[in-house]
Amino acid sequence: MANIMEPIKVKNVEFKNRIVMAPMVRFGWPSLNGIMGQKLVNHYKEAADKEIALIITQALSVSEERNGRGRPGVFLDAHIDYLKEIHEECIKNDTRLFAQLSYPTSGYGSNDYIDVNKLPKEKLIDIRDLFIRAAERCEKAGLEGIELHGAHKFFLNMITSHISNKREDRYGGDLNGRIALVKEIVESIKSYVKDDFIVSYRMGWNENLDADINTAKAIESIGIDMLHSSSGITDRKDIKVPEDFPYNEIVYVGTQLKKNLSIPVIVVNNIRTLNRGNYLVEENLCDFVAYGKPFLADVNFVKKSLRNSNYEACFKCNECKWFIDGDKCPSQVKLNRSK
Ligand SMILES: Cc1cc2nc3c(=O)[nH]c(=O)nc-3n(C[C@H](O)[C@H](O)[C@H](O)COP(=O)(O)O)c2cc1C
Repeated sequence: MANIMEPIKVKNVEFKNRIVMAPMVRFGWPSLNGIMGQKLVNHYKEAADKEIALIITQALSVSEERNGRGRPGVFLDAHIDYLKEIHEECIKNDTRLFAQLSYPTSGYGSNDYIDVNKLPKEKLIDIRDLFIRAAERCEKAGLEGIELHGAHKFFLNMITSHISNKREDRYGGDLNGRIALVKEIVESIKSYVKDDFIVSYRMGWNENLDADINTAKAIESIGIDMLHSSSGITDRKDIKVPEDFPYNEIVYVGTQLKKNLSIPVIVVNNIRTLNRGNYLVEENLCDFVAYGKPFLADVNFVKKSLRNSNYEACFKCNECKWFIDGDKCPSQVKLNRSK
C-alpha cells in the first residue's frame, strides 16, 4: 500500500512524494510586463525545500493580449529567466516544477468572458499556437512539465465542454471535435519536447460522472500524461457523493476519474491535512494530493504536518485574503509576528 510520502515515477521523472502545491494566483503581488515580480519569485523559491514533490505555478498567461492586471505570463522569451530562477532552486531540492498555462477568461457574465462560439477558426489556431510556444519556453527554462488549465471556466474548459461549445466546425460537435484543439496542442508540444517532459491537464468536471469520465478518457487518449481533477462549469452538475465519503464532490469526482484512467491523477480541494491526503493515497483513490490554501497559509505545511499529521494551516476565512493580498492572510500575519 502506497502512502503520501512515498516516491512515484511519472514517465522517467521521479517525484519524491505525492504532495503537490496547487496552482494559485498570488493576487496583489506585482509582476511587470508578464515578468514575475521578485517578491513572487522568492515566494516560489522559498517553497522549493519544503518537502513538496511538485510545485505548479499559478496560471501563467500564454497571451499578451489577455494578460491584464499585472499578472505573470509565459508569452515572451523574456519570461524564460524567471522560471529558470525558480526551477534552479527546485532542482537543488529534488522538487519538480510545472507551469500552469492558461488563456485567461473569467467565465459567463464577466467582462473578461469569451464566447468560444464567436471566435473565428483562425483565432482558435492562434490561441493553440500560443499554448504551444509557451510550453516550448517552459521546456527551455528546464521545467519538468506544464499543466494546461482546462478547469474553472478557463478557455480550454469552455472549448471542451458541450455546455459552452456549440461550434459546428472541426473544433466543436462531438467530444472528439471539442477536444481537437487540446489534441493539436498536445501533439505539437510532444513533437519537439524531450520524452520525459510531462504534459498535465487540469480538467474541470462539468455535469455528470459518466460524461466526465468519458471526457477524461478522451483527454488521456490524446497523450496527456497526468490529470488534475478540479471544478469546471459548476453551475451545471449532477454529482451524488456517497454519504460515507469524507471529502467534497470535487475530490469525489477525481477519485472516480482515477478508477477509470491509467495515467496518474491529482485530486484537490479542501483536503486540508496530511492525514486526509494520506488516506486518499493509501486507498488508491488518487496518485497525488494537491493542497492550495494550506500552502498559502504556511509554506511549512508539510514539514509541520510530519510532526502532527492533523495540522491545519489555513484559518478558513469566509473570503480567502489571498484573493486580494496575501500579506493580509491571518495565518501569514501570525507567522510573521512570531518570526
Ligand atoms: C488565491 C487563489 C488563487 C487560485 N488561483 C488558481 C490558478 O491560478 N489556477 C487554478 O487552476 N486554480 C487556482 N486556484 C484554485 C486552487 O488551485 C485549488 O484548486 C483550490 O484552492 C482548492 O484547494 P484548497 O482547498 O486546498 O485550497 C486558486 C485558489 C486560490 C485560493
